[in-house]
Amino acid sequence: MDFDTPINRFGSHSVKWDSMEAFYGVPARDGIAMWVADMDFRPPVCVQRALEGMLAHGVYGYYGDDTAYLDAIRWWMQTRHGWEVDRGHIFTTHGLVNGTAMCVDAFTKPGDGVVLFTPIYHAFARVIRGAGREVVECPLANVNGRYEMDFAAWDAQMTGRETMLILCSPHNPGGRVWSPAELQRVADFCKRHNLLLVSDEIHHDLVMPGHKHTVMATLPGISERLVMMTATTKTFNIAGAHSGNVIISDPTLRARFAERMNAMGISPNSFGLFMATAAYSPEGAAWVDALNLYLDENRKIFDAGVNQIPGLKSMPLEATYLAWVDFAGTGMAQAEFIDRVQKVAKIATNHGTPFGAGGESFLRFNLATPRSVVIEAVKRLQTAFADLQ
Ligand SMILES: Cc1ncc(COP(=O)(O)O)c(C=O)c1O
Repeated sequence: MDFDTPINRFGSHSVKWDSMEAFYGVPARDGIAMWVADMDFRPPVCVQRALEGMLAHGVYGYYGDDTAYLDAIRWWMQTRHGWEVDRGHIFTTHGLVNGTAMCVDAFTKPGDGVVLFTPIYHAFARVIRGAGREVVECPLANVNGRYEMDFAAWDAQMTGRETMLILCSPHNPGGRVWSPAELQRVADFCKRHNLLLVSDEIHHDLVMPGHKHTVMATLPGISERLVMMTATTKTFNIAGAHSGNVIISDPTLRARFAERMNAMGISPNSFGLFMATAAYSPEGAAWVDALNLYLDENRKIFDAGVNQIPGLKSMPLEATYLAWVDFAGTGMAQAEFIDRVQKVAKIATNHGTPFGAGGESFLRFNLATPRSVVIEAVKRLQTAFADLQ
């Protein structure tokens, strides 16, 4: 497990590295890509071996007999998350943005409101609006640099036109691991306002030491309005395989989803399923444990360096490798701090505005990269904002 040796990703059709100049004007020559959520690490050897087996066989036909794949999911959810999953409840989509789009299509109508706790992963709003539904932003409260839910305000916002809530658990950005009590309040909120709850738990394996993720499906009394979404792609850095799981225990919701999967002609990508089956294994588990320790150290180094810059504040991550840094304290306009990060520090980051209300003064930095790169990024930021010291 080597997370330290830098891997040159230029010229590999990596959106993160090969598109950063086009998207952010950060030069490929000496820029650092810290935006989109994939890691600069190779997946565990068991995943590589699975692909090598496919290559050696050399025939790339349609995937069939998914028993091993479904059993691997069951094993992982049971051993890592204390969640019993029934094989027959699992649908495989082309990733979880696709899974989200499928849920919006299957369970809402044009004009319906879909609730998001913002700032939140930007693709949710894109697919909701793309499908002609309305995004209903419920702003998270930023309490001393940590996001908290604000049900009193959100109850007052509901109009009766809302039919779905998409929860991000753990939360991206900001990295909150929602507590069982918070999740229970989310479930109660959905019942109060008759919302279907879609729980996107794609980051559930990337949890920092000392924190524990709770699977929404393990809460009592929510299953008849719950759709779960999980994936191997974020955990094992195989996002290019575009595979995700939508897991539905309620038979009526499941039948509706199955109907739309048929209507859209969605069937699994064999590369994704071969890799996922290999990843959900004891070897994959040991790799994730080591990864989380590495990410935790990266996060500590990044936060210590960035929080020394007057006016910058990095949210303490409980999960994910996506540091969420608030530039509000600099008093600078958004264009100015973005210019300094992109043009002076030459770092490509995600801008906060697409994450929704409350994101405007933030930038999101991807820390899943060798430690030497994190250290270099911190140095560059300290130089770019040196006049504030
Ligand atoms: C919360 C969340 N959901 C989904 C995705 C992307 O999922 P996929 O690559 O499976 O479409 C991301 C990527 O960062 C994410 O943060």
